[in-house]
Amino acid sequence: MEDLSRKASQHNAEIWDKLVAMKSGFTATVSARALNNPLPYINIYQWLPKGVQGRRVLCLGAGGGKHAPLYAAAGADVTVVDISEAMLEKDRIMAERYDFRIRRLQRCMTDLHGLMEKEFDLIMQPVSSCYIQNIEGLHREVARVLKPGGLYIVQHKQPFSLQTTPKPECGKYAVEVSARYQGKLPPIDGSEHRESGAMEFLHTLEALVGGLCRHGFVIEDLREPWHGKADALPGSFAHRCEYVPPYLAMKARRRIDSGIAISPIIADSE
Ligand SMILES: C[S@@+](CC[C@H](N)C(=O)[O-])C[C@H]1O[C@@H](n2cnc3c(N)ncnc32)[C@H](O)[C@@H]1O
Repeated sequence: MEDLSRKASQHNAEIWDKLVAMKSGFTATVSARALNNPLPYINIYQWLPKGVQGRRVLCLGAGGGKHAPLYAAAGADVTVVDISEAMLEKDRIMAERYDFRIRRLQRCMTDLHGLMEKEFDLIMQPVSSCYIQNIEGLHREVARVLKPGGLYIVQHKQPFSLQTTPKPECGKYAVEVSARYQGKLPPIDGSEHRESGAMEFLHTLEALVGGLCRHGFVIEDLREPWHGKADALPGSFAHRCEYVPPYLAMKARRRIDSGIAISPIIADSE
């Protein structure tokens, strides 16, 4: 697994650098309008009712000048980790443009060396776990650098979506990969569900959800962001989403001890 993991992170760093050079929509930075009022963007499910002012936030696998600037605009002390130099450069440019302090680290999310134990109040991770094979390593590092009582807000590509063909064939989407498939996923020619050229991996719900619980987290909420549209054109993003939910968003809290989390760092009500 180690060899493939190393190969995947080098490969995906190059792919994301290329996507930046191509000005792909996947690498768009946040708008000035959103930065003027960032909370609705970072608090879509009301998981952060008290905001993040003064909180230490890690934006993980989250380069690109979107998430880190949003959290900085909301008053957080932000660190962003990403494997792609070009994606991190976008955060540097945004920080300079808007006068934010954003610490940038080029790292694989499964090896957060240089970050201290219990350093963060909140870790947010947009869709990026699909680019690593070692989900256990990710959970171990997240548990290490998050304070007890702290929140881990993460979005994944749904396993079922990664198992399913990007386009309908004879009007139907087909499941083409086994639920326990472990190698790199078959390449695709680019879709809104998967970036073309990237090396991606399938993780079961047992690994994504159960794995977090086994690393000392309590799942407080779980959503399937809805992007479907019943009358969408067959083959379009919205049409596929009507049949195959693309994402899974989770709010997980690191337990204080072996029991349920108490005195949370980022509380729902204080
Ligand atoms: C879908 S983008 C997420 C951030 C993007 N700005 C957005 O709008 O959602 C996925 C990010 O994961 C990063 N990534 C891929 N493999 C990674 C790894 N092994 N460790 C850390 N980041 C990784 C990519 O460089 C890319 O910036």
